[in-house]
Amino acid sequence: MKKLTIAIDGHASTGKSSIAKEIAIKYGYIYINSGSMYRAVTLFAIENKLLELLNDNIDLFIEKLKDISINFRFNQNNLISEIFLNNRNVEKEIGSLEVSNYVSKVAAIPEIRKEMVKLQRNIDRRIGVVMDGRDIGSVVFPNADIKLFLTASDTVRANRRFEEMINNGLSVSYDDILNNIRKRDKLDSSRSNSPLIIEKDAVVIDNSNMSIDEQIKQIKQLIDRKIAN
Ligand code: C5P
Repeated sequence: MKKLTIAIDGHASTGKSSIAKEIAIKYGYIYINSGSMYRAVTLFAIENKLLELLNDNIDLFIEKLKDISINFRFNQNNLISEIFLNNRNVEKEIGSLEVSNYVSKVAAIPEIRKEMVKLQRNIDRRIGVVMDGRDIGSVVFPNADIKLFLTASDTVRANRRFEEMINNGLSVSYDDILNNIRKRDKLDSSRSNSPLIIEKDAVVIDNSNMSIDEQIKQIKQLIDRKIAN
């Protein structure tokens, strides 16, 4: 059976990773969350007190990140590829609001993007890949078999994220989450290097009023049609 490369881009907190994960499990493909790579770099910068360099010495900031290692290891229990920063599983830490507050600034640095894109393209696509992010269909895999662009109203997204974080026992405010989502969308869409755009050949899904199951059904139809052709 033909193995596809599926690019899922879109606005912040549109459920890209949940959808991507489910599709990957259904088809036996590899799932890579590219946002987690930018988040891991940001976590390293926070932990090593490098953030102030972002304002006054970007060259030194980049230099300090030169030797970090980022890779994914498949977890048999939850069936996802978890991210490791310098051999430490940081899957949980990268989801914090502090990381979310700085990640778009870090992700706008061209040198960092170049390294991340290199790692993303290194993935063996022969068994099929689902990758989600902001520039997957436009930059990382412009020849992807299927390109999706997920969006939803910002208040719906903030509500979903708020509930998810509260359910995970985190203490966060709804307003902080909404502001973070708005700020990231703005930065991600307006940066000069690899901005978030809707590719001409992308299928846009506004999931403001859609369940995950409805989205999966629509995406499965696209995939099955592509495989059959
Ligand atoms: O996907 P997620 O929301 O976790 O991504 C976090 C941030 O990483 C985004 O807001 C964006 O700034 C950056 N990112 C990116 N390019 C990607 C994936 C994520 O710039 N391919």
